[in-house]
Amino acid sequence: MTPIIDEIRAHRIEAFESKDNNAPVCFLATNDAQGQPQVRTLVLREINDTDLTLFINASSPKWEQLQSNPQCQVLLWYATLNIQYRITGKAELLPTSAITDNWHKRPHRAKVLDYFYDTVAPQSSTMASRDALLQRFDEINRKLSPEELQPSPAALGIRILLEQIERLDLTEDGLPHLRQRFDFINGGWSETTLVP
Ligand SMILES: Cc1cc2nc3c(=O)[nH]c(=O)nc-3n(C[C@H](O)[C@H](O)[C@H](O)COP(=O)(O)O)c2cc1C
Repeated sequence: MTPIIDEIRAHRIEAFESKDNNAPVCFLATNDAQGQPQVRTLVLREINDTDLTLFINASSPKWEQLQSNPQCQVLLWYATLNIQYRITGKAELLPTSAITDNWHKRPHRAKVLDYFYDTVAPQSSTMASRDALLQRFDEINRKLSPEELQPSPAALGIRILLEQIERLDLTEDGLPHLRQRFDFINGGWSETTLVP
């Protein structure tokens, strides 16, 4: 039994049903080599009993950051439900097989970009101009046949092993907001009340 995880899953389904723009995504925070926090939006692929899964590219700064410091946080904010989850964990690489099916379902543009990162320039690096970028993208696109494309080895699946979950629920009418922390200890979740 993992009630807190079941609750997150249920809230996410509710967020999808209420057409919350944040339902498909999460916000991943890492630290770079200078200790500077770095946060970005990612599609949240799965919520499992002990981890969350995300897909990234190996050429990206976030992968370098997670390799040198796997401790990270994932934030979920469902505005339609007035609920925030702040999730602390440790990143780990998933086997390549974890992304294969999903990679094939990606839009062609996204697949070509993975090859762009491999052969032209890493994700988040600089280009001389937008025109220069589009020209190189077009060159690669012409060479790749959509039917024959295979997942780039740099397309990675990662899991964030869950350590702590904090929930802030703003829906308590007239009362202080409900704030709880859940710590994963000895294979189970222990719950603590926090001052909101
Ligand atoms: C709605 C949305 C979804 C995104 N999903 C992903 C994703 O699943 N994987 C990914 O690597 N980047 C995704 N991005 C792009 C990232 O936010 C980010 O710009 C990119 O990964 C580079 O991040 P980095 O420079 O911190 O490594 C998404 C951006 C938005 C706005």
